[in-house]
Amino acid sequence: MNQRENESLVVGIAGGTGSGKTTLAYALQKQLGDEHSVIISQDAYYKDRSDSLIEDRMHVNYDHPDALELSLLAEHLRALKSGKIIMVPVYDFPSHTRKHDGVLTASRSVIIVEGILLFAEPLVREACDIKVFVETADDIRFVRRLLRDIAERGRTAESVAEQYLNTVRPMHKQFVENGAKVADLVVDGEAHLEEGVETVMRVIRSRGLDFP
Ligand SMILES: Nc1ncnc2c1ncn2[C@@H]1O[C@H](COP(=O)(O)OP(=O)(O)OP(=O)(O)O)[C@@H](O)[C@H]1O
Ligand SMILES: [Mg+2]
Repeated sequence: MNQRENESLVVGIAGGTGSGKTTLAYALQKQLGDEHSVIISQDAYYKDRSDSLIEDRMHVNYDHPDALELSLLAEHLRALKSGKIIMVPVYDFPSHTRKHDGVLTASRSVIIVEGILLFAEPLVREACDIKVFVETADDIRFVRRLLRDIAERGRTAESVAEQYLNTVRPMHKQFVENGAKVADLVVDGEAHLEEGVETVMRVIRSRGLDFP
């Protein structure tokens, strides 16, 4: 058994916006079972902006690592790894604030963490035992994000396009795409989901965890 006994395995899933990280994370959890896995989303760790003016909150670069409390995320991953219970922050996107104390989250054998910037921050990168990068062409990612933000987040096409060009795209080039180079495996975000799940499952099994 390669993985240290009694320690959870942290599987980090990074990749650009719209690459398919959340989709892969949930499919992986379905395969592993709720009793054996838990998903932690990087987005829960956005910094609380209660202290800044509403108009200033809208101009923050939310695609830059500094917008997130990644040190807290790394601390939480280490705690979960050693079996501790953590309090995951609850972030309210419309107001850019943390809502209340958070959600008590217990450890599981496999901790799945997903987010665009996981491998850009050394503390978080090092906390990931298996680093997965979901690679999907830029045009496909943009179309997926455009459709999602209009359908689910009440955004206009103009505002999604403006944000994409101003921050999403440059930050992707600066902080996200390099993740593929440091990853242990790259999953094709345009291929059938089952393929990606099986690729990650193979690596999980190779670390001594007994999953079908
Ligand atoms: N392997 C795949 N094949 C086809 N469509 C996919 C695949 N993976 C994800 N999708 C679709 O792409 C869209 C974006 O996926 P998802 O929300 O998982 O991306 P994400 O990487 O989590 O993006 P974000 O970082 O913006 O949250 C969704 O509509 C999802 O159904
Ligand atoms: Mg997502």
